[in-house]
Amino acid sequence: MAYELPPLPYDYNALEPHIDEQTMRLHHDKHHAGYVTGLNTTLEKLEQARANGDFSGVAPLLKNLAFHGSGHVLHSIFWTNMKPNGGGQPSGEIAGRIERDFGSSDALRGQFLGAANTIPGSGWAILGWHNDLQKLLVLQTHRHMDLTVWGITPLLVLDMWEHAFYLNYQNRKTDYSQAFFDNLVNWDNVNERFQRAKNG
Ligand SMILES: [Fe+2]
Repeated sequence: MAYELPPLPYDYNALEPHIDEQTMRLHHDKHHAGYVTGLNTTLEKLEQARANGDFSGVAPLLKNLAFHGSGHVLHSIFWTNMKPNGGGQPSGEIAGRIERDFGSSDALRGQFLGAANTIPGSGWAILGWHNDLQKLLVLQTHRHMDLTVWGITPLLVLDMWEHAFYLNYQNRKTDYSQAFFDNLVNWDNVNERFQRAKNG
């Protein structure tokens, strides 16, 4: 069964002035849609390869699977990680866990924005829960899938590809990452994801 582009959980202009309507339309309707199409096309080609018993072209297909599959997963999380008038202090159970694993919510903010602001080229800042390690980790992921720690469940992700901010912020990417953390993060959603990740 083919994967579908999930609708945004709010209007295209709902995150203004922090993320503008045009950026959201392009980002969701073109970029995210492209990853969904890429994922479906790749899965079809892998099915054909299995049907033909010809796996000679499997390497680029698996590369595309990781790229488009991770792009689809991360964008799906990203949209729900934000809400109008979000940001503020972490709340709920994850607040205590952040204290324990990072020292304070300010320290998490510093480390998360440090990861976001130093990505060379395209990538993501990710706060995730690792169930085997029993720990929250901040990762800096290049493109959509490099430099992961296997087994981590992303809870809060920030898209630092230029398509996510360039129309509004141009080269001021630190203003964009800060606006995300301080004004858009939906901590209720992050908490729900934390509960699900912990409980398997
Ligand atoms: Fe993106």
